[in-house]
This record gives sequence, C-alpha cells and structure tokens, in this order.
Amino acid sequence: MRIKGKQYQTIWIKAGDNRVVQVIDQRKLPFRFEIFEITTTSGACFAIKEMVVRGAPLIGVTAAFGMYLSLFEFAGETDFPDFINQKAAELKATRPTAINLAFAVEQIKNFILENQRRKDLAEFVLAKVEELKQLEISYSEKIGEYGLKIIEDIYERKNQTVNILTHCNAGWLACIDWGTATAPIYKAFRKEIPVHVWVDETRPRNQGARLTAFELGEEGVPHTIIPDNTGGHLMQHRMVDLVIVGSDRTTANGDVANKIGTYLKALAAFDNNIPFYVALPSSTFDFTMNDGLTEIPIEQRDSAEVSEMEGMANGKIRTVKIIPEKSMAANYGFDVTPARLVTGLVTERGICKASREDILRLFPENQK
Ligand code: MRU
Repeated sequence: MRIKGKQYQTIWIKAGDNRVVQVIDQRKLPFRFEIFEITTTSGACFAIKEMVVRGAPLIGVTAAFGMYLSLFEFAGETDFPDFINQKAAELKATRPTAINLAFAVEQIKNFILENQRRKDLAEFVLAKVEELKQLEISYSEKIGEYGLKIIEDIYERKNQTVNILTHCNAGWLACIDWGTATAPIYKAFRKEIPVHVWVDETRPRNQGARLTAFELGEEGVPHTIIPDNTGGHLMQHRMVDLVIVGSDRTTANGDVANKIGTYLKALAAFDNNIPFYVALPSSTFDFTMNDGLTEIPIEQRDSAEVSEMEGMANGKIRTVKIIPEKSMAANYGFDVTPARLVTGLVTERGICKASREDILRLFPENQK
C-alpha cells in the first residue's frame, strides 16, 4: 500500500545486505516515518515486544525473519538444534496472544532443523521466510476479495455511503500488505463504492487513531476517528452498517481474541442487529483451542501505557502523564468475543460462520 504515494510493505530485506531486515517503525507513526533495522534475533524480539512492529500477521513474519537471522549468530558453542530451539523460545516469549507468532516460529524452526546440513542453509531459509511473507500477502488480498462482497451487498441495498466501524489496526501496517479488516475496504474504495470508516481510537496505544487513520488517509479513504466508547451510540442511530475487525487468535469453535474493547463492539452490534465480521488469515486460527475465554492467553502490558499518553508537541514526540500520581492502572491487551456474537469469519478461503462445523468446512485439513 502507499505512503506519500510510494508503494510499501511493512517488512523487507535491505537492498544489498541480506543480513539486515528493515521495518516501518510503527512507534513513530503518524508523526514520523522512520525505518528500523533488525540484524539479530534479539533485535527481532525487541521490535516485537516494544511494538516497533505489531499486528498478528506482521509479528509472525518478523519472528520468522528473527529465526533466519539467528543462523548468523551460531558460533558453535552449543549443539545446533539446542541453539535453534533456544532462539525459537526467545521469540515465542515476546508476546503471548497472537498465535501467528508461535505458528511462524515453529514453521521456520522445523524447516531449519530439517535442512541443517545444507551448505546454503541461510539462503534456503531466507527463501522460505520470503515464501511465508508472500503467503500472508496473498491471504490478505483474498480476504479483501471475499469481504468486498459484503460491502457490495450493503451498497446495493442502501445505494448510499457504506459506514464501516473498525477497532484497533487490522490494516496493512498490522499485516504485510492490504490488511485483514481493511482489505475489503480498500477493495471497495478502489471499485468506487462510497465507503466511510469509523475508526475507534483504541486506547491505550491508540492504534486506531494513530495507525488505521494514517493508512486510510494515505490511501485517500474517508474516515473519522471516534473515542472507543462512541460505537454504541452510532449503532443505535443507524450510523454504522457493518463492523469489521481483525483477530489475534481464533479458536476452532470460532471464539475471537482481538484488541481489548472488541467484545464491547460485538455486544453493541448484536443488540442493534448490525453485522459483525472478523477478517483473519488461516495463520490466526488456533485449532488446538476450543473455548477462547478460558484458553486464550491474554497479554497484560505495562500500566504506563494507560497512565501516560504520547503525542506530538512543538515538533517533538512527547509523553505526558494523564492520571493521578498514586492511582493504579491495568492494561489488558486483548479480549475474547464469543462466537455467538460473530456474524461471520472472512478468510482467504471464503466466508464462514463462527462455528466448528463451518470453519472445518473451509479448513478440513484441521479435522482431528
Ligand atoms: O497489540 P497489537 O497492536 O499488536 O494488536 C494486535 C492487533 O493489531 C489487533 O488486535 C488487530 O485487530 C488484529 S491483527 C490484524
């Protein structure tokens, strides 16, 4: 997708130096556009933990690159498989909720171990990581095509601007390109269907206000940022036609973990009879889990993300305290929306109900 008219993806190998991975530094957006370089596995861990990169598909691919970079760090001090397992464990420990991370790390770890005797191992692994990245892009694009149909149907009925509400950033910045929740929106916009996006600001890190708004703006998509607690009011007044969000992990039964606050939007949508769709690639399904509420680990982050806020003042990115000095703050990163509140799941293989039977109809290879 575009930034200042130039085509970007969120992660790539530096031209002329295949030991350097470059990413867009999302901590600085929308105020500054900066490229961050990752050269070691611990650099990849830092980028994921500190949210230089974020969003389930992107942290998965970043971790895959992190596994690739580990190959240049092996100095023969331990057994090679032990070393690789250790690096995989370090990457997996960075963030617990998005399953894409563990999924990508396991895939590349096993690939390295299976091919460890190859002379061209690093090159071979890099090609595999690039393949994984391309696959994620193709998933997002297909999600866009299937999701487009939902927007088209609403437009056909309404013949007026389609108002879509989204939460957090499940856009191209969270993926590699296109995004998950945003892909259908970009597809509709390019087909000249009039769309308008209500962007939840998404406290505490403001991924909506800072990132979704930024990327929609760069693509020219009309949008309005709203405080997180506005969605219910808009839905009651029929100012929302459709909700589309992303996911960080979805269980075999269709329970959806996504950025904190998603559940409340699903409840409001349900109460107002507004379709609530979740867009996700197959890499975000966790077929080992059923009950999202009891099984999905929910990340708790530093309370400073709640007690402080970051913004731009006089040309500098600054942090200010926004709560009383002695008050406590809690920072749960995600919540779980039960399958019963989800109208449908938009995947790269089509749209299905949030139910075990229908998910397995699209992904039969996961049938036990
Ligand atoms: O904590 P983040 O910013 O990494 O949050 C993850 C997300 O981007 C969202 O929950 C998103 O909706 C799903 S990822 C496409």
